[in-house]
Amino acid sequence: MLDIQSHVSLKSYNTFGIDAKARYWVEIDTEEQLRTLFQVSEFLAAPKLILGGGSNLLFTRDFEGLVIKMSIQGIKVVREDASHVFVKAGAGVNWHQLVLFCVQNSYAGIENLSLIPGTTGAAPMQNIGAYGVEIEQVFDHLEAVDIQTGETRIFNHAECRFGYRESVFKHEAKGKYIISSVTFRLNKQPVFHIEYGAIRETLATMGVSEDNLSIKAISEAVIRIRRSKLPNPAEIGNAGSFFKNPEISKDDYARLKTEYPTLPGYPTGDLTMKVPAGWLIEQCGWKGKHIGPAGVHSKQALVLVNHGGATGAEILNVAHQVQQSVEDRFGIRLNPEVNIV
Ligand code: EPU
Repeated sequence: MLDIQSHVSLKSYNTFGIDAKARYWVEIDTEEQLRTLFQVSEFLAAPKLILGGGSNLLFTRDFEGLVIKMSIQGIKVVREDASHVFVKAGAGVNWHQLVLFCVQNSYAGIENLSLIPGTTGAAPMQNIGAYGVEIEQVFDHLEAVDIQTGETRIFNHAECRFGYRESVFKHEAKGKYIISSVTFRLNKQPVFHIEYGAIRETLATMGVSEDNLSIKAISEAVIRIRRSKLPNPAEIGNAGSFFKNPEISKDDYARLKTEYPTLPGYPTGDLTMKVPAGWLIEQCGWKGKHIGPAGVHSKQALVLVNHGGATGAEILNVAHQVQQSVEDRFGIRLNPEVNIV
């Protein structure tokens, strides 16, 4: 049975805690329900917003269409070979619960992605990543329902066209498919990713040496780092990094580096460097700043926050001002990572 509701507050369904409303709202637990939904021509034609954990969204207005909250559950091992375990998870599975399941069963590959808010179905959309790992490294395939035909289609790795916080679902496939499950190819033999400086330091403070590393220890280290830097959405509304880290040419980087010798940067190709947006924003004096109830987090300048009661427009105003300052000072345009609705 489909329970379609109208005029539903989205406040508890987005981690910024913005009080926007959905004209229509439905929660989906099975693929079958999706197909039933789109047999109703009114819903097939309506503007649609697919909602996972609402952790990468900024509502700047009410949504005058149908919000589809994806709640398909289930985690299961579907296949194994000599070196891999294939784990399938429903789109509505909480991402961190999936990480914990894998860590507890010693399936390696997503431990660096511990504590990322959101759902499994949303993870491939933006190829979630943290601490040296992106999900594309362990992605096998996903299943998605074609909104027009109701058929289930498989997307393999190549078809998802993953990039840095990018996939085909943000481009050509946008609005055409609804991801219903994702299957990951996890490793029986772990490959530890501790190259990210903070992980090494945290493992050391936990008393874990490089000889007794485990995926559980890495997961715990990541959880500690995230808790120390990133605000808990249950306490302070936020959507993680608001902007992507920009890529600039090596020439531009060299020029900026003479003016700002402490500018960090990581090569991403022969001619390009990625620079941390958080550093650029902090240099412009934004770290910990408030404009009314909206502001910039005091421990990580890449995170915009709602201190309570901010509207989406107030958050967006801070975002625009931050973008302007960074552009004026460094000549670099920051692009949002968060989806602005
Ligand atoms: N930095 C500052 N000031 C700040 C923040 C960062 O100077 O306020 C500089 C520091 O030099 C630091 C560097 O930026 O060494 C990198 O900072 P951090 O390790 O916190 O990572 P990030 O580049 O700011 C990215 C992801 C995060 C992910 C972390 C860890 C993006 C847009 N963000 O942030 O992802 O957790 O790396 O891998 O790529 C998210 O997408 O929501 C998210 C939190």
